[in-house]
Amino acid sequence: MKIEISKLEFTYPGGVQALRGVSLEIEPGEQVAIVGQNGAGKTTLAKHLNGLLKPTSGSIHIGDWDTREQSVSKLAQRVGYVFQNPDEQLFSKDVGTEVAFGPRNLGFSGEQVQGLVNDALMLTELSDKTDTNPYDLSPTWRKMVAIASVIAMDTEIVIFDEPTTGQDAANIARIANVIKVLRERGKTVITITHDIDFCAENFERVIAMSQGKILLDGKANDVLGEEEILATTYVDPPQLTRLGKRLGFKETVRNEKEFLAILTKQGHG
Ligand SMILES: Nc1ncnc2c1ncn2[C@@H]1O[C@H](COP(=O)(O)OP(=O)(O)OP(=O)(O)O)[C@@H](O)[C@H]1O
Ligand SMILES: [Mg+2]
Repeated sequence: MKIEISKLEFTYPGGVQALRGVSLEIEPGEQVAIVGQNGAGKTTLAKHLNGLLKPTSGSIHIGDWDTREQSVSKLAQRVGYVFQNPDEQLFSKDVGTEVAFGPRNLGFSGEQVQGLVNDALMLTELSDKTDTNPYDLSPTWRKMVAIASVIAMDTEIVIFDEPTTGQDAANIARIANVIKVLRERGKTVITITHDIDFCAENFERVIAMSQGKILLDGKANDVLGEEEILATTYVDPPQLTRLGKRLGFKETVRNEKEFLAILTKQGHG
């Protein structure tokens, strides 16, 4: 289902104006990365999509639902949100119970819950840890539990808030695979990230935010090519993107594959 955000403004009770007129549309099945400096408003925006925050002005529609008119528990049928900090999200005594909580709460039958839980545990490679207390796991694996517990809800829209922060290379590859599988299933995925290489490798559309506003929104290569504008929100394009520019490539490249393709075309490969 489509996401439509119109002229969204949000001010925290303390007076911080975190969003200053954000408008954007995300089509069903699109995979979008959101980048931008600390405090740009990325998490505040994400929390509006599942109704944890309600607009001060402007609106958000998730399909035919206006988030102002729906409860958080209702919106959970359509939007799953993996918290930036898993410790804000996890509360069960073992991984299996934690992952089953969401789908059970959404009213799936016992058999459906079991199927969804097994699938989510397999995707996140947690199948051997169902009886473990999440707090006995390393922070990297706790993040995987947080991801599994959201995937198990089988929502059409999934939001990841900084999924790769503090993760080792193996877990980053696991998370990239989860996102790939969700893409194949036609899910809408929105990922907030400071990890520009992860963004470049896994997303076709990139949104850059700065000070509560959208700075850039477009195809990954176009956005990542805007080195000077990105610098204003403290985002550095991937190293190979910058190197390609220095070498005078006409096209913006964003990963090794694209970089090598240009070299080959120029006869250096
Ligand atoms: N609970 C809160 N109460 C008051 N102000 C807040 C709260 N949460 C965030 N803010 C402020 O709102 C602004 C946007 O914060 P937000 O967390 O959305 O940014 P972000 O882009 O997710 O940053 P980061 O990359 O550090 O996670 C910041 O100025 C922040 O200090
Ligand atoms: Mg944040």
